[in-house]
Amino acid sequence: MKLWQKGEEIDKLFERFTIGDDPILDLEIAFYDVLASKTHARMLGKIGLLTGEEVEQLERGLDSLQAKIEKGQFTIEEGIEDCHSQIELELTRMLGEVGKKIHAGRSRNDQVLTALKLFTKDELKLIAKGIDQFFELLLEKSEANKDVLMPGYTHMQVAMPSSFGMWFGSYAESLTDDLILLKAAYEIADKNPLGSAAGYGASFPLDRDFTTKDLGFAHVNVNSAYAQMTRGKMEKVAGYAIAALASTLSKFAMDVCLYAGQNYGFFSFSPKYTTGSSIMPHKHNPDGFELVRAKCNKLQALPTELSFILTNLPGGYHRDLQVLKEHFIPSMKIVRDCLEVTYYMTKDLTVNDSIINDPKYSLLFTVEEVNKLVLAGTPFRDAYRQVAEKIGSGSYQPDYQLRHTHLGSIGNLGNDRIKAAFEEVYKFFK
Ligand code: ARG
Repeated sequence: MKLWQKGEEIDKLFERFTIGDDPILDLEIAFYDVLASKTHARMLGKIGLLTGEEVEQLERGLDSLQAKIEKGQFTIEEGIEDCHSQIELELTRMLGEVGKKIHAGRSRNDQVLTALKLFTKDELKLIAKGIDQFFELLLEKSEANKDVLMPGYTHMQVAMPSSFGMWFGSYAESLTDDLILLKAAYEIADKNPLGSAAGYGASFPLDRDFTTKDLGFAHVNVNSAYAQMTRGKMEKVAGYAIAALASTLSKFAMDVCLYAGQNYGFFSFSPKYTTGSSIMPHKHNPDGFELVRAKCNKLQALPTELSFILTNLPGGYHRDLQVLKEHFIPSMKIVRDCLEVTYYMTKDLTVNDSIINDPKYSLLFTVEEVNKLVLAGTPFRDAYRQVAEKIGSGSYQPDYQLRHTHLGSIGNLGNDRIKAAFEEVYKFFK
């Protein structure tokens, strides 16, 4: 029996189709729906729609549902559409008449919005924590390897001297920008839609400032019709932040996979983070980084997937919005898993501290040669030609002595600045 059923029979195939994956996906947001239901009940008490005794009964009922969810024992029964319906059903089973009173002044449309925002806030906080952990590791590795040279490439061709310190630090700084997007996504999720009901408010004197404070939202989505419009918009913005982070992680994973191969030999893996081959006895494959690369490449489609679901939808609620959850909810855990496994795999990554001595990297130092002539008074273009001639005639000899001093160069990584910039954003999440 549905919350909305009025005596007519529903076709079974249609029922299964419309319920879709909600009985599984809603298990992720049921906890938040219980929190919001408690707040809603308290608010109804405050405005006189429930007695103090009724509010207490509902709170006790919701507490027991919360415990059930936390123990992993909460399920959505067959034919019960979603977590919102299941929670009301269980309250009514537990409390009778009182359970039937909780839905005054709300709709599943603002319930799902509220639960999703609370869920997203918690998830973004966890992601930020994972970013912080990985950032610290990258910066630590950058400092530890700041004097270890690494070949730098452009066009996949040997280019200029870089360092492992620069390489690790570059990904640390990338995470700072990803965190800025994450913070923006958090701020957009941090607005209370509860009380917008089906998307047009209600004729009860709902105290929306109370529910905002009680649920720990920083602000309220004021206009009820706009509150409804944030379904999808909030997810899309969080999706952009996740996609940015995923892009950093996938590029990082790609670098590692490439540079750990025998043709480069810049890194080696701890065997505990490699897999073997069923046929080739010598293999230690970087499957972990490869899966991070694939999953993170896939995550970059998230904002596009959400955008397509939302394409041309007018204002107001549409059942289309339910499908957003299929893409959005699992993505949170996927990106958290990728961050975590990347952290551990990177912790055990070993750098080859003598790679630069390989003769094929002598060309990395041609610009040094040009710059030495420039410092001695030769115009740059003339110096460039002189060195090119030496390379052409085979008389070029690399000088491994480097003179990089400017901010952000291998001789002056500026990691203190990178750290300060990160901390400035991360303090928001603390
Ligand atoms: N499961 C639904 C969703 O995710 C809940 C809202 C249902 N509202 C409705 N008017 N049918 O969108």
